[in-house]
Amino acid sequence: LNNGLALTPQMGWNSWNFFACSISEDLIKETADALVSTGLADLGYVYVNIDDCWSAATRNLKGQLVPDPKTFPSGIKALSDYVHGKGLKLGIYGDAGAFTCQVRPGSLFHETGDAQLFADWGVDYLKYDNCFNLGIDPKKRYPPMRDALNATGRTIFYSICEWGVEDPALWARGVGNSWRTTDDINDTWASMTTIADINDKWASRAGPGGWNDPDMLEVGNGGMTYQEYRAHFSIWALMKAPLLIGCDVRNMTAETLEILSNKEVISVNQDSLGVQGRKVYVSGEANCLQVWAGPLSGNRLVVAFWNRCSKAATITARWEVLGLESSTHVSIRDLWQHKEVKENAVASFGAKVDSHDCHMYIFTPKTVAHSES
Ligand code: GLA
Repeated sequence: LNNGLALTPQMGWNSWNFFACSISEDLIKETADALVSTGLADLGYVYVNIDDCWSAATRNLKGQLVPDPKTFPSGIKALSDYVHGKGLKLGIYGDAGAFTCQVRPGSLFHETGDAQLFADWGVDYLKYDNCFNLGIDPKKRYPPMRDALNATGRTIFYSICEWGVEDPALWARGVGNSWRTTDDINDTWASMTTIADINDKWASRAGPGGWNDPDMLEVGNGGMTYQEYRAHFSIWALMKAPLLIGCDVRNMTAETLEILSNKEVISVNQDSLGVQGRKVYVSGEANCLQVWAGPLSGNRLVVAFWNRCSKAATITARWEVLGLESSTHVSIRDLWQHKEVKENAVASFGAKVDSHDCHMYIFTPKTVAHSES
């Protein structure tokens, strides 16, 4: 969507994956505080997004949405003032149907009034869900909210949460700033890998202004190992997915913070070229040894070696798979070890990768000086 936003994928936090409906204004404020105190805000995680369950069960007499008086007694405007005071942005959640997924009032046919209310509250981001959609075509339900947000005059990031049902990657570029390509993620290896593969199919559709959204991060929620979370974060970054933290940032382990704070991996995600990397080579039993790669600015490449097998194994990338001439000299930096691992690789590069782990590299091809004498 050409609204000046999403030149790189959005970064921030969302309440759903860890807290579901157990949310409150205090939680949102404490999360904003923690994003700042942990340094995550400075790394680019600026959106603080409230998901479902912020709203009361019914609209008021004027037909307006009302924050749940028990959990958000001070209202959303006070919350956005607080979040903005920290240098962060506030996101909210709505639904392109009769009700939200947790049966709060939906915004279908209320787009103009609800968008104005969000703008008046100082909201910066809307995640717009797909429950209770009355069987109406999403191509009819999502544009009216885009137009209503635009009409408010406030710049609001528009996140389409259509779950990939009607292939939003094919039609949502002019509608929203990102679109979900899959069903909901959960905190398991099986879910994370399945979702990565589905999202990969739509790689060509991503770019500045609009991104494929394979759903929010589960890093730090406890259902995967350190290696699996590192793979999850690496592949999401490489796929130019939104980096929306889904854990309790007030109580993170050092390992969780280390993964989420990896500046080199974040800079792959936020690279100005904005091309989604993809799975480019598979081998091994059930194709479980994988090379994922994509172009970066400055003629560089990001290359990930992802071992989805049950044993450690060597993964090798041949230059032809990466679109390089086999004589090209490449310097290779490891983004998890934070060091150069090879000065002049030629033709191929391989490394041993632990089961379910992922190595991530930046390949910088050396320009050869040609002389004509
Ligand atoms: C849907 C969305 C989730 C979350 C829940 C909230 O399932 O896909 O991301 O927003 O609704 O109810």
